[in-house]
Amino acid sequence: MKNELWRLARKPPHGWPDLEDFRWCEEALPEPRVNQMLTRTVYLSLDPYQWGRRRSGAESPGDICHGRTVSQVVASRLPGYSEGDYVFSTNGWQRYGLSGENINVFGYMFPRKLDPTQAPISTAIGVMGMLGLTAYSGLIVQCTPQPGETLVVSAASGGVGQVVVQLGRLWGCRVVAIAGSDEKLAYLRTLGVDAAVSHRSESFVEELKHACPDGCDIYFENVGGPVFEAVLPLLNRRSRISLCGLISQYGNIGGADPRAQWRELGAAVFEQQQVQVHDLFVGNFVADYQDRFLQEVGAYVRNGEVRYLEDKRDGLEKAPQVFAQMLRGDNFGKTLIVVSDDPTLADSAV
Ligand SMILES: NC(=O)c1ccc[n+]([C@@H]2O[C@H](COP(=O)([O-])OP(=O)(O)OC[C@H]3O[C@@H](n4cnc5c(N)ncnc54)[C@H](OP(=O)(O)O)[C@@H]3O)[C@@H](O)[C@H]2O)c1
Repeated sequence: MKNELWRLARKPPHGWPDLEDFRWCEEALPEPRVNQMLTRTVYLSLDPYQWGRRRSGAESPGDICHGRTVSQVVASRLPGYSEGDYVFSTNGWQRYGLSGENINVFGYMFPRKLDPTQAPISTAIGVMGMLGLTAYSGLIVQCTPQPGETLVVSAASGGVGQVVVQLGRLWGCRVVAIAGSDEKLAYLRTLGVDAAVSHRSESFVEELKHACPDGCDIYFENVGGPVFEAVLPLLNRRSRISLCGLISQYGNIGGADPRAQWRELGAAVFEQQQVQVHDLFVGNFVADYQDRFLQEVGAYVRNGEVRYLEDKRDGLEKAPQVFAQMLRGDNFGKTLIVVSDDPTLADSAV
């Protein structure tokens, strides 16, 4: 049996991904050593931060493209894991991968066993994984929402955004969602948001102002650019911002730091309105908040108070195309690749 995988072909020369940035490879299946296990990738998560790693050189040409995965153990020499177990892992963009001793992963993305009776296993790279934890950390821990406050969320139908809007509603906020298509706005209304506005509308600035008659107390920032410029004049005194991401800037050429530029643009308003800006990096919240988050939000997911939409695409070979689509907004919900059968689903053939 062979492994199939994507390696980074070159340091990406352009602002947004090209197919030439990636190289499809067929290689021998790796053998697990002592304290390692071999797993078969079932789901691969495609996330905006992966592009940042490729552009910055954190991922080098020749490296296996990084990605969080849900996988099933094929062979294990790692105590505590047996053949057939489902795990959260970081196999990257490949069909099979090793986990365990001497397998280099981000410190906070350690493997963990999944219980398919608690939640569908795909959610371990979505609402019940880093994305849910990002939403929880930025909104609940950093911005401490109070009932009646107005919460504005950008990229609101995406992996992080859809969790933020629902937590905001559960915490009693008036939730204003921003997204990029009528279909996404309609979905957000089914989640119970109070207003949904398209950033592609010609009258976006006026529509957003109209949707926030009492201004904005909390802004969950996912995109930056013109959306941020529209939110700035609405920020109330002592409002809070979780600076989660700036996806509209991830294709910038020229090397300037988008977060520094964003802060400069907002500086006068931040000072005048005493706005608290919280930089968000989910890795900083895993040790202290992951267990609490899994318990609290897991209960909401199980009883249906937090729903989630997944944008599942079949086939590892399509990863580069789907990745580029996700970055430009041609996704709807959390984007993941179905790499192989999910035996926990009734109809699972890929
Ligand atoms: N700080 C952390 O630790 C952390 C962790 C995870 C994610 N993040 C950040 O969270 C944000 C969302 O990530 P995600 O994984 O949930 O992705 P996502 O929202 O599922 O997908 C990206 C979305 O961004 C929106 N978008 C793209 N270009 C845009 C533009 N020019 N203007 C406005 N919106 C644009 C699109 O939605 P529309 O069609 O609605 O425009 C697209 O669907 C990203 O900025 C990511 O970097 C940060």
